[in-house]
Amino acid sequence: MEKTICLLPGDGIGPEILAQGRAALERALALGGHTARCMTALIGGDAIDRTGVPLPDETLKICQDSDAVFLAAVGGPKWDALDPKVRPERGLLAIRKGLGLFANLRPATLFPELSHACLLRPDIAEAGLDLIVVRELTGDIYFGEPRGLTERDGKRVGFNTMIYDEDEIRRIAHVAFKTARVRRKRVTSVDKSNVLETSRLWREVVTEVAASYPDVALEHLYVDNAAMQLVRNPSQFDVILTGNIFGDILSDEASVLTGSLGMLPSASLSDKGPGLFEPVHGSAPDIAGKDCANPLATILSAALLLRLGLGMPEEASAIEAAVHKTLEDGYRTADIMEQGKKKVGCREMGQLVCERIGAWFRILSGQSVPWLWDTKKTGWQRIRCRPVFVRSVCQAVSA
Ligand code: IPM
Ligand code: MG
Repeated sequence: MEKTICLLPGDGIGPEILAQGRAALERALALGGHTARCMTALIGGDAIDRTGVPLPDETLKICQDSDAVFLAAVGGPKWDALDPKVRPERGLLAIRKGLGLFANLRPATLFPELSHACLLRPDIAEAGLDLIVVRELTGDIYFGEPRGLTERDGKRVGFNTMIYDEDEIRRIAHVAFKTARVRRKRVTSVDKSNVLETSRLWREVVTEVAASYPDVALEHLYVDNAAMQLVRNPSQFDVILTGNIFGDILSDEASVLTGSLGMLPSASLSDKGPGLFEPVHGSAPDIAGKDCANPLATILSAALLLRLGLGMPEEASAIEAAVHKTLEDGYRTADIMEQGKKKVGCREMGQLVCERIGAWFRILSGQSVPWLWDTKKTGWQRIRCRPVFVRSVCQAVSA
């Protein structure tokens, strides 16, 4: 079956990492007997330079007509001085809104091969880190009206509106509970209900939704405490459910704890229409064009695209397996390099992964249940819950 994928390379290292992500995606699709039609479109600073706006209408249209959107990164110092309305980041916010991508899933996992890079004290790291931030992505202070810059009593004033309605809270809460159901059955809802009315409603609605999931434990944390607990004892977390602004901050904190922002993929899903898949890291303009960026977060985002966007778990697992095998074989990009390992550039890392996808696909496609890497153990494990996890996330967002 032919699939249409919209590629959005964006800025900085975007084009070089997306080239590797695309190669892995096409390799896995071909092995599964599918063909893909990839259309490249403009977003971010690149789009501003060529069209004057960070998200041209044509890009949104191509995305809407695609089966999935594969984005690399946007932004850079070149566009920092522009009017906020035409900054590259606006393109990202506009595409989230335009595609209705309300559910942002950001897993943070400590890869056993990269444990030396973990920023946590060894005794804390020992307990493991395997959590997922479920962040609401189309509401909150990011989009609330009124907003603006004005003058009051002769003083410059800036203002924004933090706002959620109960339906927005309910639908993201369901995604979190369904995700937790097939993981360790624990949801931590993060808010600031000791101060904010928006958060009081958040807590109330999340508690109501929890009644439909008696098998999942729910706890509430204030966001300041959650930020502290993430460094003090991150192994306590399974699913962190939170709003847009708190999720933005906590997901960066959670991901960098692993010591390798260059490894972490993300998925943004809607209740209908294509999902968007992108690495968590940014456009790293300082190393752009030098062939030294780490393409693995993008390659792992290709795996999420296959699993959650196109419903192809075996193809997805083949990519994930190939990434782990490449690390196990000792290859490292500069950001994750350690003594005794083989340093490679962006392109070579992509090629090494691609070479390994075929072998894993043959192994995996013979299994009724896909095999995945179990971060808690030191080898390949058959993890029954993962395909269910995948289905459940898909159902959760389409419910
Ligand atoms: C993210 C980024 C974006 C956000 C920016 C670039 C608009 O930080 O995806 O986390 O704040 O959501
Ligand atoms: Mg962010």
